[in-house]
Amino acid sequence: MNSPVILITGAGKGIGKAIVENIIHRKEALGSPRLVLTSRTSSDLKALQSLAEKAGLACDTLPLDLANDPTLPVTHTVQKFGRLDQVIHSAGVGRFGNFLELTREDLEFTMKTNVEACFLFMQAAYAQMSKQSPKSDSKISSHRGDLVFITSVAAEKPFEHSSVYCMSKYAQRGLIESMRLYARKDGIRIIDVKPGAVLTPMWGEVTPDMIPKMMQAEDIAQIIIDALLIHPRASVEEILIRPMGGDL
Ligand SMILES: NC(=O)c1ccc[n+]([C@@H]2O[C@H](COP(=O)([O-])OP(=O)(O)OC[C@H]3O[C@@H](n4cnc5c(N)ncnc54)[C@H](OP(=O)(O)O)[C@@H]3O)[C@@H](O)[C@H]2O)c1
Repeated sequence: MNSPVILITGAGKGIGKAIVENIIHRKEALGSPRLVLTSRTSSDLKALQSLAEKAGLACDTLPLDLANDPTLPVTHTVQKFGRLDQVIHSAGVGRFGNFLELTREDLEFTMKTNVEACFLFMQAAYAQMSKQSPKSDSKISSHRGDLVFITSVAAEKPFEHSSVYCMSKYAQRGLIESMRLYARKDGIRIIDVKPGAVLTPMWGEVTPDMIPKMMQAEDIAQIIIDALLIHPRASVEEILIRPMGGDL
């Protein structure tokens, strides 16, 4: 088996789910990848696994809370498929509210997933990628793999009601910039995807007038897979994508 191994977190809903669907749709271009899908809700993952398997792809699922087991998806993937070629990290949470009303619990909940788990998960993924040999059919012999972070426009611009979320996303950006100091030498591409408003379950209830002003998850999925497919001599380091009418 020489097909690439892709691990997707937050695969069950929203942007992560759209990424899995896009991968299935473009499986030939991606080299018939083997997939590991993880998020908290098993039924979401099983439905996508069934789609992937119907399309002829090997697919495993791992329901877990990344805040409790941040490195398990990496060890699980390597045990199952022997290597790790691409990671798309879409698991993330948001607690929103007036700056003075956000609580210590909101802070701890957000930082545990968006910062602590993100660091430990990506550290484990990087450790695996940097020690494995590049794939034998790689277009460039030094290309070891790709790590995709879904940060946000909130990683570079503040929004009212988003102080804790923004803090967590700015922290992710700090991690990305630090990891790149190693990654460029180690042949690992890091893609920082910064979407504006995307209509996903993260938003909860939205009013009907907001919907046409938002992007759809498939828009973000499409550009991420495009970025992964370009020749590895080039690295799409940042993708900033907003609704056509700008931020909400
Ligand atoms: N939607 C937007 O407007 C927007 C804009 C910019 C950036 N982003 C970022 O894009 C990423 C995906 O957001 P989304 O809108 O697709 O969110 P979403 O619809 O809420 O989906 C998030 C996915 O992540 C999983 N997840 C969350 N916390 C987890 C944890 N601790 N352990 C394991 N899985 C966890 C969820 O699993 P369960 O459902 O099973 O809990 C779900 O499958 C996030 O990092 C978010 O900050 C979103």
